[in-house]
Amino acid sequence: MLAKTTTSLDTHHDPNSTPEGTAKCYNDWSGTYDREIMTQLSCTGPRECADSLEKALDGSTRKEVRILDVAAGTGLVAERLVRKGFTNIDAVDGSQGMLDLAEKKQIYRRLICDFVGPNPLDIENDTYDAIACCAGFAAGHMKDDCLPELIRVVKPGGYIVLTFREEWLHQYEEYKDKLEPAMARLQDQGLWERVSREIFPNYYPGKDGITIVYKVL
Ligand SMILES: C[S@@+](CC[C@H](N)C(=O)[O-])C[C@H]1O[C@@H](n2cnc3c(N)ncnc32)[C@H](O)[C@@H]1O
Repeated sequence: MLAKTTTSLDTHHDPNSTPEGTAKCYNDWSGTYDREIMTQLSCTGPRECADSLEKALDGSTRKEVRILDVAAGTGLVAERLVRKGFTNIDAVDGSQGMLDLAEKKQIYRRLICDFVGPNPLDIENDTYDAIACCAGFAAGHMKDDCLPELIRVVKPGGYIVLTFREEWLHQYEEYKDKLEPAMARLQDQGLWERVSREIFPNYYPGKDGITIVYKVL
């Protein structure tokens, strides 16, 4: 019989967690995060997110485009973007512990420790050509109330790439019948338009992932 691989994953998705509680969980997890996510769980999310962003930005000069990695964590998405030639990347995350590890990798220009929600981030309007956000949407993590703020900091014509576990759309009350309708309302308001919505297998083994790409108007 195969030994069960235990990870910190499920203890980090408390639907009732406060932002401070989530940040503390990730501060505590940060030291083993990369090993658990990439080696034990073979997570494909960061790669899928980086690949989708590369596709959206096709034709742009990679060293010039400004990217914000939202819920950046330890920088797994940015590591992949840097390998593709994107070098102008900032990070925002609510966990200082995760950002401290990201900083050591020297892949970000600016690291911002803040909660992404309806609160204004310390970022000017229309700053970025694109946002990458992998696993920022999960139980107890970001909610739909942050979407206008993400749109605010992206230039018109820029892209927002959201990758996460598909099952959260159905299993997490906060997203069920709420997250995608909120996205659609922002489209109805003329703030962005959906470019693609793709479900892919094995975000984690046996668990689908989803990547939704929007273009800011
Ligand atoms: C599963 S990790 C993903 C990290 C990275 N994007 C990756 O793919 O490995 C989720 C990250 O989201 C951050 N996070 C959760 N809710 C947040 C919020 N409301 N604002 C900012 N960061 C948040 C956590 O601190 C954590 O670093």
